[in-house]
Amino acid sequence: MIALDKHTSLLFFLLCVWKFNAIESSPPVVLWHGMGDSCCFSFSLGAIKKLIEATLPNIYVYSIRLGNNVIEDVEHSYFGNINQQISQVCEQLSKDKHLKDGYNAIGFSQGAQFMRAVIQRCPNPPVMNFISMGGQHQGVFGLPNCGALGNNTCSYMSRMIKYGAYLKLVQEKLIQATYWHDPYQEKEYKENSIFMADINNELHINQTYKDNLQKLHSMVLVKFTNDTIVWPRESEWFGFYTPGQGTKIQTLEESDLYRTDRLGLKILHKLGKLYFLSSPGNHLQFTESWFVNNIIKVYLM
Ligand SMILES: *[C@@H]1O[C@H](CO)[C@@H](O)[C@H](O)[C@H]1NC(C)=O
Ligand SMILES: *[C@@H]1O[C@H](CO)[C@@H](O)[C@H](O)[C@H]1NC(C)=O
Ligand SMILES: *[C@@H]1O[C@H](CO)[C@@H](O)[C@H](O)[C@H]1NC(C)=O
Repeated sequence: MIALDKHTSLLFFLLCVWKFNAIESSPPVVLWHGMGDSCCFSFSLGAIKKLIEATLPNIYVYSIRLGNNVIEDVEHSYFGNINQQISQVCEQLSKDKHLKDGYNAIGFSQGAQFMRAVIQRCPNPPVMNFISMGGQHQGVFGLPNCGALGNNTCSYMSRMIKYGAYLKLVQEKLIQATYWHDPYQEKEYKENSIFMADINNELHINQTYKDNLQKLHSMVLVKFTNDTIVWPRESEWFGFYTPGQGTKIQTLEESDLYRTDRLGLKILHKLGKLYFLSSPGNHLQFTESWFVNNIIKVYLM
């Protein structure tokens, strides 16, 4: 009788622990902000962090910051060497013991392609679900708005990119040049882009990149249907201008990247791990309820 009681209470105890763990077990989340933004502004990623925490109590949310404070973080979103920044982020994430069993990653705008580079280059700790909010996975051809930069700096930057995007000096100092994709100069792009052409396996195939992407549970690409900031907005779904001109768009499936499967996206797609979502409105102009219902409750729980 007593033995049975012990058994029952042990079972009950285990059940409680299991239930408790089930409630507590949303994996941690890592965020990477976009151009002109920072880890922690209350009107941008600070609010996203709060929203995730409010929806999934006790979750650990880490928002990537480069530099010693938010001002430096904003500067680093325009200036510096992106490959060095990605290495720094890999180091930050590998040292964070909350993340050691894996995490879900959300990148915002350019932060989405940088987050993808982290996934491809630094598989430890592992990423489960990757959510790209308006990321430019085939780069951009146009910078209609430079975020927080004033007009003078913005026009200086646009000129520098237009005339010198593929110069080594510009590639190593100006973040936006590294995902500048000129469809009239595909060859120059593939040979000189130190970032986008590299992570898209354009010049040669890095098998490690393919293998690491295959480890994802899902890759979720969110496109903003009325996006006027990203040119072309199809880049948010890996689409881009058909090489050699600047009006006609080809989708991911029509692209060489997909047909030759240089990056393993076709396999990911066939396995049902690649999701194409759209959100109404302009760049990153999603509502809280859209984010809760389409992202948090589907991919972060
Ligand atoms: C492939 O990517 C890995 C991870 O970033 C890197 O260590 C390696 O040097 C790359 N290989 C080639 C051939 O570029
Ligand atoms: C930038 O230029 C536009 C149009 O030329 C002008 O309306 C706006 O006030 C300028 N903004 C700043 C910050 O100078
Ligand atoms: C999208 O843009 C069009 C044209 O500018 C506008 O009429 C429409 O209201 C916009 N829709 C949304 C959801 O922002």
